[in-house]
Amino acid sequence: MRLRSAFLLFCALCLAFAIPGGSLAADGKNLLVLDKNISSEELKKTMEAYAAQLGVKCVFCHVGEQYEKDDKKQKQDARKMIRLVLEMKSRKADFFKTTIKDTAIQCAMCHRGRPQPEAYVP
Ligand code: HEC
Ligand code: HEC
Repeated sequence: MRLRSAFLLFCALCLAFAIPGGSLAADGKNLLVLDKNISSEELKKTMEAYAAQLGVKCVFCHVGEQYEKDDKKQKQDARKMIRLVLEMKSRKADFFKTTIKDTAIQCAMCHRGRPQPEAYVP
């Protein structure tokens, strides 16, 4: 009986650790700006959106598939930019007309499919 319950506990622990594993989120090991509880689905969508809006691949900000690493300057810059966009969204009324949709306030607003928005100096 003892052995049996020990075995059941072992199985329960295996399941508890196995189910969340293997997802893209890698349990958000190193999320400093985005919600740590973001689902792997939502994280994937968010990252694909950054890549599309800047016209880059994941490796522009990440070291291969070691997504939690902070080795690239671009990733660090991106964190500041995510904060900037969150600020623009949360203080929308201070910055924009009411006709500007929430969804328009994103990286693409400035980046327009480029990694470095060109300065326009008239
Ligand atoms: C413009 C830069 C940029 C691009 C492009 C980008 N990412 Fe990220 N990614 C980040 C930043 C910044 C974070 C950390 C966010 C934070 O600290 O809250 C992050 C975090 C992640 C994480 C979470 C890592 C962890 O465990 O903490 C994953 C997974 C990830 N990115 C995958 C991807 C994939 C896949 C792509 C391509 C589809 C991609 N990223 C494209 C900037 C980028
Ligand atoms: C208000 C305009 C604006 C918004 C919004 C914005 N950016 Fe930027 N971003 C810039 C400008 C301008 C630069 C160029 C800065 C420079 O050249 O010094 C830049 C540079 C960057 C860089 C550095 C590029 C490089 O080659 O090193 C990254 C990475 C980046 N932005 C990511 C993002 C992401 C991700 C978002 C959305 C979460 C975002 N930005 C939203 C204006 C913006």
